[in-house]
Parts: sequence; C-alpha cells; structure tokens
Amino acid sequence: MFFSSKHPIRLFIVFLSTALCIGSSLSLQAQEKSNLTSTAEFGGKWGTKVEEAIKALKLQGNIEDGQIIYEEICEACHQPGGNGDPAGNFPQLAGQQSTVVIKQIADIRAGNRDNPTMYPFANIEALRAATEDIFDEEKDGPQTLADVAAFIQTLPMSSSIKGPGNDLEHGEKVYAENCVRCHGDHGQGSFKNYYPVIAGQNYHYLMRQFRWIKEGKRRNANPEMVEQIARFTERDMLAVMDWVSRQKLQPGDWDPNN
Ligand code: HEC
Ligand code: HEC
Repeated sequence: MFFSSKHPIRLFIVFLSTALCIGSSLSLQAQEKSNLTSTAEFGGKWGTKVEEAIKALKLQGNIEDGQIIYEEICEACHQPGGNGDPAGNFPQLAGQQSTVVIKQIADIRAGNRDNPTMYPFANIEALRAATEDIFDEEKDGPQTLADVAAFIQTLPMSSSIKGPGNDLEHGEKVYAENCVRCHGDHGQGSFKNYYPVIAGQNYHYLMRQFRWIKEGKRRNANPEMVEQIARFTERDMLAVMDWVSRQKLQPGDWDPNN
C-alpha cells in the first residue's frame, strides 16, 4: 500500500514543474556541493561504504521531489511533518541533517541497524521502484535518496515528547561532560561528521537508541561513544536524555562546515 500513488494529481504537478524547470533542475542535479566532494570528507571512518549512499551524499537534493517521496513512502510511519509517533517507535526525522539521514538509511540497508519494519524501504532499489510512477526514468536511486534527505532537513522539529523533568540539572552536567564534543553544546550534531541531531528528539526513542548503543545492539554505533557511556548509571541515562529531549535547534545549526 505504501507503493501506490495516493494523489495522482502529483503526477501532473511533477510533469508541469519538470517541463517548466527542466533546464535549471538538470544543472542543479549535476551540481555537486563544493564541500561534499569526497567520501573522505564524510567523517573518515564514519563514512558509509554503501555505494548508492556515497553517490547520494555528493548530489544536490531536490526538496520539492523529496517532499513527494516522503509523502508517498515515509510519512506512513514517520508521520506527516516528520515528528514520528508519541511512543517513539518511529523516530522524529524532522530537522535531521541530510548526511545523517543518508548514512542511517545506508546502515539500515547494510544490516548495521536492526530495523525490520523499515528494511524494505531502506533498500534503494525499492525506493527507486516505489517512485517509478512518479518520476519515470528521470531519477535514479541515489538521487531519490538525496531528494528525500534534503526535504527532511527542512522540516521544523516539533516533538513534544519529553522526559519527566525531575533531574535536569544532573542531565545537563552529564551532557556537558560527555556529549558536547560530538553532538554539540545543545544536541545539534555535526553535518560533516554524520553526528545526529539529538536535540528535541522523542524521549522514548532517545532512551531506546541510547540503551541499544550502550548494550552493543546498534552495531553502527561510534565505538568511542560506546566506551564513554559504558559506566553510565540508569540515573545518568534518564537524566541526560530528558535534558536532550528539551533542547531546540538554533539558527545556523545546519552549517555544512560544522
Ligand atoms: C514501515 C515503517 C517505516 C517506513 C515506511 C519508513 N521508516 Fe524510517 N524508520 C522506521 C523505524 C521503526 C525506525 C526506527 C528503527 C530503530 O529504532 O532503530 C526508522 C528509522 C529511520 C531513520 C533513522 C533515524 C535516526 O534518528 O537515526 C531514518 C533516517 C529513516 N527511518 C528514514 C526513513 C525514510 C527517508 C523513509 C522513506 C523513504 C522511511 N524511513 C520509511 C520505520 C519506517
Ligand atoms: C565520539 C563521539 C560521540 C560521543 C562522545 C557521543 N556520541 Fe552519541 N552518537 C555519535 C554518533 C557518530 C552517532 C550515530 C552513530 C551511527 O552512525 O549510527 C551517535 C548516536 C547517538 C544517539 C542515537 C541518535 C539517533 O537519532 O538514533 C543518541 C541518542 C546519542 N548518540 C546520544 C549521546 C549522548 C547523550 C552522549 C553523551 C552521554 C553521546 N551520544 C556521546 C557520536 C558520539
């Protein structure tokens, strides 16, 4: 059901906009972001080895097309607006940096993250097949991935699912001492190193991922992070995730040089 085109009108919209903007969109798609030219720049050993993802990371995403892909495929689980579900089964994607979205999809596809629900949609060939009726032969898999990631990055974050708020001072201290180096001083992450935005993420999702990283269940986790949090107590975990879930993105947080 996710593969069916729910709104045939979009086909018409895409045709129309393609006809109108063919010249500019072709040059845009061919254009590589100057700061995104080699895989080595993508966080060194954090760089993905999945070929389609490497290609996608070098492409300029088309936000309008990304929105169509998102609405056709992703919003069934991640919800319209990208804020996920209150229980945190489906994470908030809104506001996540495009490099992180691409890397995580590649990791899920490569089996480095357990995500059986999403697996069929993380397969880039499936993404390509699912969008065939929208884009005809116009787009290949990596371009659809770049498009959907570019769109997700533009969505404003608005998850309101936070922790209990009873130990925030401790959470702030734990964060400042352990997490700033990679996730930034308020959870904004790093575009070029694939460090995820964690500010304002759903508290329950944060707790699940944090536990999985600590227990080694999430196999793509950064080993330095695993080592750092190994001695964390239950109190530390609850408090730091509560604090993180209350942070907000600030202007300038998506600077590709960060
Ligand atoms: C059938 C449901 C489903 C669909 C459809 C789906 N996802 Fe997901 N997605 C999930 C689940 C569940 C998780 C969380 C897995 C976990 O807990 O590790 C997830 C996780 C992710 C993550 C990792 C988030 C993070 O913070 O690390 C990204 C990125 C993502 N999805 C992108 C997408 C995109 C883009 C699409 C559309 C092309 C999509 N998903 C379609 C269920 C889905
Ligand atoms: C050495 C760098 C580093 C440090 C220090 C670090 N992290 Fe991470 N963290 C990462 C990377 C890299 C990822 C993404 C791993 C991947 O590619 O899947 C991540 C992922 C996460 C995630 C999962 C996010 C998601 O969207 O799925 C959470 C939650 C998290 N970190 C919280 C923390 C907290 C809280 C601290 C401090 C206690 C911390 N991290 C310290 C590098 C770090």
